Amino acid sequence: MESLLIRGARIVTMNGKLDDFIGDLLVENGRISQMGARLEAQADRVIEARGKVLLPGFIQTHVHLCQTLFRGRADDLELLDWLQQRIWPLEAAHDEESVYYSAMLGIGELISSGTTTLLDMETVHHTDAAFRAMAETGIRAVSGKVMMDHGGDVPAGLRENTDDSLGESVRLLDRWNGHDDGRLQYAFCPRFVVSCTEELLVGVRDLSRRYGVRVHTHASENRGEIEVVERERGMRNIVYLDHLGLAGPDLILAHCIWLDEREKEIIRRRGVKMTHCPGSNLKLASGIAEVPDMLSRRMPVGLGADGAPCNNNLDMFQEMRLAALIQKPAHGPTTMDARTVLRMATMGGAEVLGMEDEIGSLEVGKKADLILLDLYDFHTFPSHEVDIYSRIVYSATRGCVDTVAIGGKIVMENRTMKTLDRDLVLREADRSIARLMKRIEA
Ligand code: GUN
Ligand code: FE
Repeated sequence: MESLLIRGARIVTMNGKLDDFIGDLLVENGRISQMGARLEAQADRVIEARGKVLLPGFIQTHVHLCQTLFRGRADDLELLDWLQQRIWPLEAAHDEESVYYSAMLGIGELISSGTTTLLDMETVHHTDAAFRAMAETGIRAVSGKVMMDHGGDVPAGLRENTDDSLGESVRLLDRWNGHDDGRLQYAFCPRFVVSCTEELLVGVRDLSRRYGVRVHTHASENRGEIEVVERERGMRNIVYLDHLGLAGPDLILAHCIWLDEREKEIIRRRGVKMTHCPGSNLKLASGIAEVPDMLSRRMPVGLGADGAPCNNNLDMFQEMRLAALIQKPAHGPTTMDARTVLRMATMGGAEVLGMEDEIGSLEVGKKADLILLDLYDFHTFPSHEVDIYSRIVYSATRGCVDTVAIGGKIVMENRTMKTLDRDLVLREADRSIARLMKRIEA
């Protein structure tokens, strides 16, 4: 693999000491092999990065690539109506091609706005197509097909038989887990308790232990959701997951807004991981997660945009900004400062995925997942003695992302995509959703 030398950047490492310095970074065999003020190294490729900022790539720990094609088609609804009236019928109408272009569109947006790793949740069918898109584009991902075998409002096209759901998940795991030297990994994705039988959840628990893979689900996002769980299962949502033996370090819960004290303690004690989705939580009127409290208890929290139809972007800069701003009216201006938020977007995400030794910071030995930001613009100036974390979190935007490498492979350079054809993806995304809408109307 090509070696890569990045010269003269302001390197914001996001390591434990939050070191930053102006210097060089060398990538060999996909990993960071040297860093320093001035390296005497040779490399196959050299990027002159004077004046630019080098950061670890963002890690989004909750995204639905299969929903990117539905952007703008489900605005201004609350969660359960949003799912039943719009998202489930749309997902049920997917075919191989629409899942593929939905993923390509989402990955294009993610890479061009600086995200290099995602935890994804696909739909019930055609998940191979999404994995193909992830394989081709070079993005790092943990993903799986969504599982749903329960609930009267689930359309026939999505409603699964329990054994088929578990069997198809294992088939996909066998096919994709570990692909490209571990760049792609599989996670079991029961959608949420509302759409899963107890038999399915217990099956997921046993399989995740057998294969040693993560479980990714939604939990306690919406008040209507937790009422349904309490009515049907006789327990609060997190208590129920713990009762089934699912609560552990391999469980990743998106949202976690409506938790009581007992549930927070279960999450903390069991080492369960959480993802905060501020954009989605505001747009679906779900609520505001108690992230400052979670962080003060040293619970791992990552950040994610969720799906395009509940955000409507997959842009980590927007999520960082919202994560900071939405807490300040209630908790004061010093809560969720820029360093805390940038840490959540990088090392926090790595911890949620259990990949803190591999990604999330720029340190020798780690995978070379990195982004170069160009902050030479009106909205990011003045630069003179301005805190770099403030510039990145509060002023920078996706347009500042100049170059992106994942595992040392350049996937965007000077804002040009290297692993996907932008015009083709935009054209085919439009064609795919047009055909999908015809299938719904038929
Ligand atoms: N809960 C169950 N399914 C979904 C989904 O697709 N998106 C969100 N935000 N919450 C969910
Ligand atoms: Fe979601």
